[in-house]
Amino acid sequence: MLSTVWIMLPAYLPNPVAALFGGGTPVDFGLTMRDGRRILGDGKTWRGLCIGVFAGLLIGFVEIFCSNAFNLAPMPLQTIASVTALAVGALLGDMAKSFFKRRLGKERGENWFLADQYDLVAGSLLLLLLVSPAWFFANITIPVFIVILVLTPLLHRLANIIGFSLGVKDVPW
Ligand code: CTP
Ligand code: MG
Repeated sequence: MLSTVWIMLPAYLPNPVAALFGGGTPVDFGLTMRDGRRILGDGKTWRGLCIGVFAGLLIGFVEIFCSNAFNLAPMPLQTIASVTALAVGALLGDMAKSFFKRRLGKERGENWFLADQYDLVAGSLLLLLLVSPAWFFANITIPVFIVILVLTPLLHRLANIIGFSLGVKDVPW
């Protein structure tokens, strides 16, 4: 459980950080598709993307530093590749979700059960598998994967309730 959090921390951090610090120019530059709807929508901004990825990389590099400086034997060894894939993949997954959300005609911030919860898991693990297959199979074991599937929606819910009460999210999901 703790080692799963250790693995996923660089993937979990980008979304809440993007929600806290996002804003400004949207990633799709306001463009719409032929269905008349935005490519991604105003909820995906360059600032959120950059600061979010930066935060994921930062926590990942702190983990790498801690593993080298202290004896954290039970914790999985993050690498530059694993940390980068997890942080970038999480927000790529988030943007892919928004793309399909808009194609389905769902407004920004509208609830989309399961997709909202697992977008970052799909994005980060898929990119990890592409970038570092050996690391993926050594560390994302079946039990770890099951913990990810159980823990992620709970953390997602918790983060959104906190974000809602802080006033950075318009809706508590
Ligand atoms: N955010 C951002 N840039 C990103 C991702 C998120 O600026 N790349 C910010 C936006 O302010 C967004 C908030 O984080 O409103 C919450 O993110 P999310 O719930 O993923 O977006 P939604 O507004 O719900 O949009 P969507 O319906 O497309 O999921
Ligand atoms: Mg949302």
